Amino acid sequence: MILVTGASGTLGSAVVPRLVADGHEVRPMSRRARPGWVAADLLTGTGLREAVEGVEAIVHLASSPTKTRGTDIEGTRRLLEAARAAGVRHVLYISIIGIDRVPLSYYKIKLETEAVVRASGVPFTVLRAAQFPSLIETLLRASSKLGPVLIDRRLVFQPVAVEDVADRIAELLSGGATGATEQIAGPERLTLEQLTKQWLEARHSRRPIWPIHIPGRFGREIRAGALTTDASPRGTRTWRDYLAGRY
Ligand SMILES: NC(=O)c1ccc[n+]([C@@H]2O[C@H](COP(=O)([O-])OP(=O)(O)OC[C@H]3O[C@@H](n4cnc5c(N)ncnc54)[C@H](OP(=O)(O)O)[C@@H]3O)[C@@H](O)[C@H]2O)c1
Repeated sequence: MILVTGASGTLGSAVVPRLVADGHEVRPMSRRARPGWVAADLLTGTGLREAVEGVEAIVHLASSPTKTRGTDIEGTRRLLEAARAAGVRHVLYISIIGIDRVPLSYYKIKLETEAVVRASGVPFTVLRAAQFPSLIETLLRASSKLGPVLIDRRLVFQPVAVEDVADRIAELLSGGATGATEQIAGPERLTLEQLTKQWLEARHSRRPIWPIHIPGRFGREIRAGALTTDASPRGTRTWRDYLAGRY
């Protein structure tokens, strides 16, 4: 039995069917009650004890962009205390490549949450992933609110498809907890200019690109490749594949 937190999210929606296809018994978790799912809330702790009962492994994907400290750091502590008491043998925690280099408050929280996982007493594996294509697209939409696409063309990303991350999660689960921090990114490193051009092309858009410069360590680290990795295995699905499926 595998508990998947954040099962309703972008990654969770790819992970649950992938694990079911492997023949696992899967218990998806959400704050909202749904048939066949377990309802639990990391922020309040409600339902966590029931959620981990009889579970062999946890794929921990849940995260909150707004109540992050309470949900991610404290919520993970609550989840793993329950997991340790229930004798769970493996927690696979999904984190993000570059959280130790790029100064973002969300990344600081992810780093602290990794530390909670490592100190939990539950055997663990941490998998740091690169940005999912949908996040890059959200970023591009936000950057083109005014008409032209305002971007720092030299930022570098290595988007990884959620299906590729789900495949890697399935592999790591079958190997058991290693205590290691693994990384997974997509098949290609692309500048934000390249990503934007392919996006505009896929949407038959003629919006111009207006270059801006993101100052400070944030911009510098991302231009230097802090969000990318040479680690293997890599995902195989490209940004173009994602766009072809959307447009
Ligand atoms: N997006 C990216 O590009 C990216 C890249 C690398 C790593 N990651 C990491 O991958 C993980 C999944 O990301 P995602 O983009 O798939 O997330 P998402 O779509 O935003 O989904 C977040 C999930 O967290 C659950 N959640 C939120 N608050 C909760 C609470 N208090 N108690 C229980 N569950 C709660 C939500 O479930 P309900 O609303 O159903 O309760 C939802 O399923 C995150 O840890 C993220 O940091 C993301």
